[in-house]
Amino acid sequence: MAIVIIRQDGKIDLWKDALLEADPSIKVYNYLEEHPKEGVSMALTWKHPEESLSVYPNLKCIASAGAGVDYIFEDETVPKNIPITRIVDPYLAGDMSEHVLAVIMAHIKNLNAYKLNQVAGIWKTIAYKRIKDVTVGIMGLGELGSLTGSDLYRYGFTVQGWSRSKKSIEGVKTFAGDAELKPFLNTTDILVCLLPLTPETTGVLNASLFRQLPEHAYVVNVARGGHLVDEDLVQALQIGHLSGACLDVYHQEPLPKDHPFWSHPKIHMTPHYASVSDTASVIPQIIENYHRIAKGHPLLNEVDRKKGY
Ligand code: NAP
Ligand code: GLV
Repeated sequence: MAIVIIRQDGKIDLWKDALLEADPSIKVYNYLEEHPKEGVSMALTWKHPEESLSVYPNLKCIASAGAGVDYIFEDETVPKNIPITRIVDPYLAGDMSEHVLAVIMAHIKNLNAYKLNQVAGIWKTIAYKRIKDVTVGIMGLGELGSLTGSDLYRYGFTVQGWSRSKKSIEGVKTFAGDAELKPFLNTTDILVCLLPLTPETTGVLNASLFRQLPEHAYVVNVARGGHLVDEDLVQALQIGHLSGACLDVYHQEPLPKDHPFWSHPKIHMTPHYASVSDTASVIPQIIENYHRIAKGHPLLNEVDRKKGY
């Protein structure tokens, strides 16, 4: 039995060392190096190249090194019968919550607008908002969305959330399903997308959704680029319906240099780094699953293949 690490971001050694430090008895391969394919029972992956997961005849688990698994479902060559797991981790959720708080505070205190004014040499005050007067609406109340919502409530925001099934989270008004999307949007000042990317959620941040938000609404997409219809955002900002957006994720990453988002004064960008898996924190659940495979036990954090998340 062995684990193969498949990723293209130069972090294979980091993950290999972390796995071996936690459990030196495990055999770990770098997918780029020659290795016996038959012995591999787990593939630990992040944005693997297409077809790289189909060469292991005895694979028992595809472990995403992040929370999202959309890139695994998008690869048609991935065997359909192998369980997929994902990361559920307090730092991953906590870092996202902190990022969203920072983005919201920067928006309501006009820090991005002031930075633009500073660069242009403009001294001008802009009315700020108070936390108590802001309603944040979170799309997706899973591991990240529910913690983010609870934290924002603790800070004093009015918080509401929307998910597929109804949730009960202290301090968060919850909405569920298509029927309750409109009332949720109508009363949201700052919309935060924390949905998984699936066929149902692709393109959900579109012109029709923006029209249901108040004119002054601000959009934060920290989930996946595929949730957003880029042209619809630019168009909404152009007609003054939406006050701005903060994006961490894009259809193509890195974002192509000629993309209009780069120079848009009302779009604030971060490079898909809102929240990243902390190797030391997440390695134990990977190793636990590796041993569970050998024992034939149910896996931790298994993805529902039917739902796609
Ligand atoms: P999760 O625990 O699976 O939660 C997903 C939530 O979305 C659930 O509440 C689910 O509803 C809801 N949902 C799914 N499909 C829906 C639909 N069609 N309509 C309404 N609600 C729907 O996911 P998570 O761990 O919180 O992560 C969310 C996403 O964040 C990831 O998939 C990833 O794309 C993104 N992410 C981004 C970064 C970054 O750095 N930017 C970092 C980590 C994760 P139910 O509860 O009813 O099923
Ligand atoms: C990051 O985007 C993740 O899905 O963990």
